[in-house]
Amino acid sequence: MSTEPETASTPVAEANGTAGDTLSITDSRTGASYEIPIRDGAVRSLDLRQIKVDDDDFGLLAYDPAFMNTASCRSAVTYLDGDLGVLEYRGYPIEQLAEHSSYLEVAFLLVHGELPRTDELDAWVYDIKMHTFVHENLKSFIQGFRHDAHPMGMLLGAVGALSTFYPDANQIHDPDNRAIQTIRLIAKMPTLAAFSYRHNMGQPYVYPDNDLEYAGNLLGMLYKMTELKYQPDPRIAKALDVLFILHADHEQNCSTTAVRAIGSSQVDPYSAVAGGIAALYGPSHGGANEEVVRMLMRIGSNENIPDFIDGVKAGRERLMGFGHRVYKNYDPRARIIKKACDDVFEVTGINPLLAIATELEKIALGDDYFVSRRLYPNVDFYSGLIYQALGLPMAMFPVMFAIGRTSGWIAQWLEMVQDPEQKIARPRQIYTGERGRDYVPISQRD
Ligand code: SDX
Repeated sequence: MSTEPETASTPVAEANGTAGDTLSITDSRTGASYEIPIRDGAVRSLDLRQIKVDDDDFGLLAYDPAFMNTASCRSAVTYLDGDLGVLEYRGYPIEQLAEHSSYLEVAFLLVHGELPRTDELDAWVYDIKMHTFVHENLKSFIQGFRHDAHPMGMLLGAVGALSTFYPDANQIHDPDNRAIQTIRLIAKMPTLAAFSYRHNMGQPYVYPDNDLEYAGNLLGMLYKMTELKYQPDPRIAKALDVLFILHADHEQNCSTTAVRAIGSSQVDPYSAVAGGIAALYGPSHGGANEEVVRMLMRIGSNENIPDFIDGVKAGRERLMGFGHRVYKNYDPRARIIKKACDDVFEVTGINPLLAIATELEKIALGDDYFVSRRLYPNVDFYSGLIYQALGLPMAMFPVMFAIGRTSGWIAQWLEMVQDPEQKIARPRQIYTGERGRDYVPISQRD
């Protein structure tokens, strides 16, 4: 397979397709015909530029607002099949990883492409444990926020600030530098997340405890009070670890696209990941898990579900936690999270909103409005119920999503930085504004 960037003139035979794999286009404006190579089920948009009406013509663009049908990269990190509801990290089904793996093992898999040997995993876990602390100045940085600042706003600020504590992180073409920044980001995200939570609670920050594993350490930094040694409930820690696995990566979602686009300017990975946190913050993306619980609380009881569904159909409401750009089937992660609810609720007691959520899902999946639009529960529909049962405030739900997604953002960033086809992301536009107007002095404007 050729790794050299192809140009419009690449002979069809070299386009990794068999001869004849082309798209035949006839431009009715000129009568000219073109053979556009098809490779991996796609045509290169640049190959459209040769289609012109005259020599002054810039050439044909592909117009795709929100990138509904645009492949921005080649990636080997995550495979999705939206129709079949399939999700694989580096080829391993999410169901098997959720059942048999750990979050740090999955993070290694996403970053390095293979499951680790025992010695590799031990070294990886050790390195991450040795980098969970943050510079003490970051505490005063977080203390500068209002007491009720949204923790996602604090997290994106703090992660962006990390770039100033590691100025050499912009050496993105140095593999050793990339490796240490990768470790630092995965290691420090829970610490900054917990510091943000403790700031909201007005409680002292809790330092990492390297005797605890990744999820248990986060629970300690969130909930440790006067006890000398925080002992996380292993069932809660396991459920949290599974949630981090399920949230680790999801191919070219909005926040990963933000990380890749920002990273394409060759900025350091902290700044790129801060942009990913900002994108994830939105209620259409990672902020949905917070909005799902607010929605369920607003519905209040099963009796109110029919009125709520009517509101959705009338466009007054959106069924948060339902629908997906790729999945037109049940999100496989939602199925696993729904099962994880049982494990957590065994410890914490059942979240009363679960009954409303399951009834809402049942009614929606039997209603043609949702079925015809292929709207099914996504990863955010049940996850908030677990976070709420853990005692977390709703504003912390997307922060938990960000902790898990950090390894995916980094894996995608690493792939982008080393991809010979990638350069600075700079889309074109279809200009719809005025042209060639002369300046009018303010005294002459009506
Ligand atoms: C995540 O991309 C990823 O991989 C994301 C993610 C990841 O792991 O990174 O999976 C995580 O972000 C999950 C999605 C979380 N967001 C929500 O749960 C918010 C509610 N869902 C939607 O807003 C919506 O479904 C999106 C944003 C998720 C997807 O939007 P699309 O693909 O742009 O679909 P659309 O908005 O064009 O909707 C198509 C139709 C529309 O109806 P019509 O205008 O055709 O009549 O479906 C309707 C929409 O109105 N619709 C919904 C709906 N989602 C879509 N109607 C009611 N409730 C909903 N949730």
